[in-house]
Amino acid sequence: MWKGRFEGQTADSTVRYSESISFDWRLYRQDVRGSIAHATMLAACGILTGEERDAIVDGLRAIEREIAEGRFEFRIDLEDIHMNIEAELTRRIGPTGAKLHAGRSRNDQVATDLRLYVREQILEIRRLVGELGAALAQKALEYADVLMPGYTHLQRAQPVTIGHHLLAYAEMLDRDDERLADCYRRTDVLPLGSSALASTTLPIDRELTCSLLRFSRISRNSMDAVSDRDFVIEFLSASALIGLHLSRFCEDLVLWSSAEFATCRLADAYCTGSSLMPQKRNPDVAELTRGKSARLVGNLVSLMVLLKAQPMTYNRDLQEDKPPLFDSVDTLHGALGILTEAVRTMEFSEERTAAAAADPSMLATDVAEMLVQVGVPFRRAHEVVGGWVGLAEKLGKPLTALQAEELGQTAPEELVLLPKGFMQDLSARQAVEQRAAPGGPAPESVKREAEQCLERNGQRLTALAGLIAAIQQ
Ligand code: ARG
Repeated sequence: MWKGRFEGQTADSTVRYSESISFDWRLYRQDVRGSIAHATMLAACGILTGEERDAIVDGLRAIEREIAEGRFEFRIDLEDIHMNIEAELTRRIGPTGAKLHAGRSRNDQVATDLRLYVREQILEIRRLVGELGAALAQKALEYADVLMPGYTHLQRAQPVTIGHHLLAYAEMLDRDDERLADCYRRTDVLPLGSSALASTTLPIDRELTCSLLRFSRISRNSMDAVSDRDFVIEFLSASALIGLHLSRFCEDLVLWSSAEFATCRLADAYCTGSSLMPQKRNPDVAELTRGKSARLVGNLVSLMVLLKAQPMTYNRDLQEDKPPLFDSVDTLHGALGILTEAVRTMEFSEERTAAAAADPSMLATDVAEMLVQVGVPFRRAHEVVGGWVGLAEKLGKPLTALQAEELGQTAPEELVLLPKGFMQDLSARQAVEQRAAPGGPAPESVKREAEQCLERNGQRLTALAGLIAAIQQ
């Protein structure tokens, strides 16, 4: 396609080294769509006749169908998806096919294909994030009033509810959705018409191409448009954060599945056994997702390093943007999909979590807060209760079993401020129920939050279906 100024042949090694068709074939739908819009615009501007446009459009549609059905043969000597499609089109319809590339270059073409692709994937990933968020909210509703210990430093800290813990992850996914929605706005821009880097002398109509491809606006600078990939970086950054969130959730699943915790049971369908140890039941899906988050972070770093210090404008380096992008998309599709299934089917042992939540030492803060309510400064209250915890430990009994005489030993002045038998009246259930402030773990707040979360995700999924349909038109 560029043989005009060359005398020598391209070495086989160069052909193999520089091809991208082995991975960018995935952009065939976007490439065909972009070319159809381009040809339609060229005809509207009098650069192609109506007949030529129709021949091009029909030819492209036939090629697209063949690729979709796996009947198209890609050639690595034609480098990439753009040249494979265009060369085949010209082979089929003759010189008319060779008119398609007027007013464009592969530089603005690939940037357009990539933006079409990322735009679709943002919506797809948002849909999957919404499904997982909804699954978490549904589980949270189911376990809204089941107690479990909340941890800091992986030490038992204060009792919470399982629902509250699960909703924490739904919140993270909520922000992930916002980040994706935000980077959509900057992805939704048409580069086509920038040509190689300096636009074109031909009388094209970029606004027409823009509306045909359902982009929100056209790019304002041709040099920026062909060389910029920061929309990919933003998408990979949002993806990496999703990966981090999933890895945290999966770490919980792994811990909870261990015999030491034994609080959660992932369905058989999402566990695997050991070929050696017959008793094993491994949470591989969770472990793998924890592991795959590494790719999501790695792909982001790859793109950042790829872009760093590239001179203006297009450089072939940019071809390397696709494998990390595709890998993150595939990884997210896999991880979000399977985790949604795993969440829908997982079960908690209420007996085990409630027993762990009943650990009385986790009520120490509540005692300190009781003292605050009767006027003791918090720092002093902390000291008093710390003394009682130490005493309980020394006497080898639970905090809540300390008798009045024992409590009076270390803090007689404070003890008289509290109602008789207050220690014995404490319980994890009551501790949790008292935390009904918005954002707290009390069953009623969790139910309210879970319902709102379900509604939010439901609305989001409906809106996304509309957006997906709108850009597909
Ligand atoms: N395969 C190339 C890429 O992905 C397409 C653009 C090639 N442009 C060029 N001037 N060689 O970046």
